[in-house]
Amino acid sequence: MDIILTGDRPTGKLHLGHYVGSLKQRVKLQNEGNFDKMYVMIADAQGLTDNFDNPKKIKDNIIEVALDYLSVGIDPSKVTIFIQSQISELTELTFYYMNLVTVSRLSRNPTVKNEIKQKEYEKSIPVGFFCYPISQAADITLFKANIVPVGDDQLPMIEQTNEIVNSFNRIYGDTLVNAKAILPNNEQAKRLPGLDGKAKMSKSLGNCIYLSDTSDEVYKKVMSMYTDPNHIKVEDKGSVKGNMVFTYLDVFSNDELIRKYSKYNSLEEMKKHYKKGGLGDVVIKKVLYNILEEILEPIREKRKYYEDNIDKVYDILKDGTRKAREEANKTIKEVRKALMIDYFS
Ligand code: TRP
Repeated sequence: MDIILTGDRPTGKLHLGHYVGSLKQRVKLQNEGNFDKMYVMIADAQGLTDNFDNPKKIKDNIIEVALDYLSVGIDPSKVTIFIQSQISELTELTFYYMNLVTVSRLSRNPTVKNEIKQKEYEKSIPVGFFCYPISQAADITLFKANIVPVGDDQLPMIEQTNEIVNSFNRIYGDTLVNAKAILPNNEQAKRLPGLDGKAKMSKSLGNCIYLSDTSDEVYKKVMSMYTDPNHIKVEDKGSVKGNMVFTYLDVFSNDELIRKYSKYNSLEEMKKHYKKGGLGDVVIKKVLYNILEEILEPIREKRKYYEDNIDKVYDILKDGTRKAREEANKTIKEVRKALMIDYFS
């Protein structure tokens, strides 16, 4: 049977991009129940690799991310939610794995390469950040996870994990398990663009709708979305391509919702009218707003419950971390034995 593990760096509140790109899929996997164990890890130690100068940001976002998980329906009775830094076996395992990875191999990791550019680390890369793929290999393998649901930017991490697994097993004997990534199945959902249509929805670009936004905030954000700059008067012909309102409707709506919140029978019909001219931006934005609210309102309600019962959230994290530690302990014992450092047992 399968062991599923995935996680997020707690560097900000989660948004609609996370919802369609990963959270929805996790809830689906959780409810299908075809696994032995499922873990969702809050990767605070990894978050610190590029936020070492701002520990408060990481600390504050641990609870935000936990609230986001619980409010989208991740169920702690089915899924173990835990905090990475509290599992010291992860640090130990990372140290042993460092022997199996070369500097040049790490330098070739395309995701890390991109991040180094983004963060302007080219001149001096912090070693901790440079090595985070090794630590991520520890995250996955300490729990013997064979299934890792992630975005496609994480594929290089899984590849590197499997290289480590294969080296370890070859040198020290069969101990670790290979992992396979599973990607979001919806093409458009893989990279939900931001409200401005410029890039992926991302906290640092300020173009997000957060799962914790109020109804008013969502309304304002939808009204500010990038549409078609040449669609000035209602009668003007409008472009659907590159128009964020339609891009989001492609991702979040279905014909039933379109019928519920507009006079059209389908999204296709609505698009046709927009292209022909005579359909205003405010009208399409209101349709989108209502459809997003169908998704966001139940999330908001659940969040409110957990915010009012914040002790429960801490208990869930504590309990999950305790369970994770038990599993971690089993694997680290096998690892120490394979490495012949289990001197006193
Ligand atoms: N690198 C992932 C991200 O930035 C977070 C992460 C850390 C992770 N450890 C993991 C994801 C293990 C999957 C499995 O989103």
